[in-house]
Amino acid sequence: MGAYGLWTLFALPGFRKVPTYLKVPYLPSSKTQTQNVMKLLHGRAGCLADLGSGDGRLVFAATVEGFQCTGFEINYILTGYARVKAKWKGIPSSTASFINQDFWKMEVLGRKLEKELPDEARVIACRFPFPDWTPTATVGDGLDQAWAYDMNAIRKLSTHTIMR
Ligand SMILES: C[S@@+](CC[C@H](N)C(=O)[O-])C[C@H]1O[C@@H](n2cnc3c(N)ncnc32)[C@H](O)[C@@H]1O
Repeated sequence: MGAYGLWTLFALPGFRKVPTYLKVPYLPSSKTQTQNVMKLLHGRAGCLADLGSGDGRLVFAATVEGFQCTGFEINYILTGYARVKAKWKGIPSSTASFINQDFWKMEVLGRKLEKELPDEARVIACRFPFPDWTPTATVGDGLDQAWAYDMNAIRKLSTHTIMR
């Protein structure tokens, strides 16, 4: 009962706001998955956005590698929890910040990313690969699999012209 109570506390605000067909439960990354994502980010630097940042664990792992991170999360309890965790870890908001926002309301995601990201950007997906994009690299398998998409490669393969 206690575990169910905790799960509903963390997961329900997400369920309320997302349309039925897009309901996604809170499934935090395993250690292996976090390591897979960090492997796909190896050798890169700069800004990182985690869409659906949960309790912030991926964001915190990326700050250790020197990234400036923003986590977007629909569940305000998880957003608040991640902010408290960042404070507790002594990470300044210029290095890691968390925004309570529904990323589906940010435009059709793949199209928005194609339109707005620079050529050198790398998009990494966990558990839900982009159906229309060919990955540049992938690490791990099963639930821990992560996919990387380099924007320059995606644009070369794109059949439609994107106005930027
Ligand atoms: C699979 S969990 C991953 C959490 C975290 N990135 C990690 O690696 O542990 C997906 C997260 O995305 C959030 N989420 C689902 N739909 C969302 C949406 N439309 N906008 C923002 N966040 C969303 C969920 O609340 C959940 O915390």
